[in-house]
Amino acid sequence: MTLIFAHRGYSSAFPENTMRAFMEAEKAGAEGLEIDVQLTKDGEVVVIHDEKVDRTTGSTGYVKDFTFKELRKLDASYLHKTLLKKEPIPSLEELFEWMSTTNLVCNVELKNIIFRYEGMEEKIIELVRKYNLADRIILSSFNHYSIIYSYRIDPEVEIAPLLAEGLYMPWVYASSIQAKGIHPKYIAATNEMVKSCMENGIAVRPYTVNKKADMLRFFEVGCSAFITDDPVKALRIRKQFERKSKK
Ligand code: G3P
Ligand code: CA
Repeated sequence: MTLIFAHRGYSSAFPENTMRAFMEAEKAGAEGLEIDVQLTKDGEVVVIHDEKVDRTTGSTGYVKDFTFKELRKLDASYLHKTLLKKEPIPSLEELFEWMSTTNLVCNVELKNIIFRYEGMEEKIIELVRKYNLADRIILSSFNHYSIIYSYRIDPEVEIAPLLAEGLYMPWVYASSIQAKGIHPKYIAATNEMVKSCMENGIAVRPYTVNKKADMLRFFEVGCSAFITDDPVKALRIRKQFERKSKK
């Protein structure tokens, strides 16, 4: 079965990368979450997509220049004008603590291309160990050096490179860096590529799959999982697809 991972949580309906969006994704029945992490000035791993807080909180500045206490005062539901309740930027620890009470898998994307965030890998792995989540966490990044470094710190933690473009024989590359999966942009994930990866024991979890036709293509090819902003739509389409294929 193709698993459904909620991109930044259930982000088509709730403020991205907030506990609300994660809890709503779990309530809806998504099997996994995809989240983005950065590091604060005082070394807290926090869940936010951009290097700057501007777009999602309406405040200004780089995450790296805020202490966690300062960052907590911002409202990550800024883009959702109709929501009455404010949503704080979560720490990774807060998310992991809650996750340990669920069965969710979580794909943590390390956003360390623009700023290196020295020491972030160690902090993430420490939290994975603290909450005993090694078998439910997948570390991904466009910074492949960072996930390879993470694997060297702890080979129990699964890694998956993000691939924005088509790569020739990605299963060979994945195996060479000890990755059990790849996360390609959905356009680059052709049926042939998905099949070859999976035949070679490499899971494929394309991002960000929001259109019905693309979802159906990945269900039909039996893709390991995909990452979507709208897990409710994906779950509905998967149910219809499964019903049809049983006939
Ligand atoms: O997981 C891959 C995807 O999330 C990468 O793109 O910009 O949404 O983090 P972005
Ligand atoms: Ca991401």
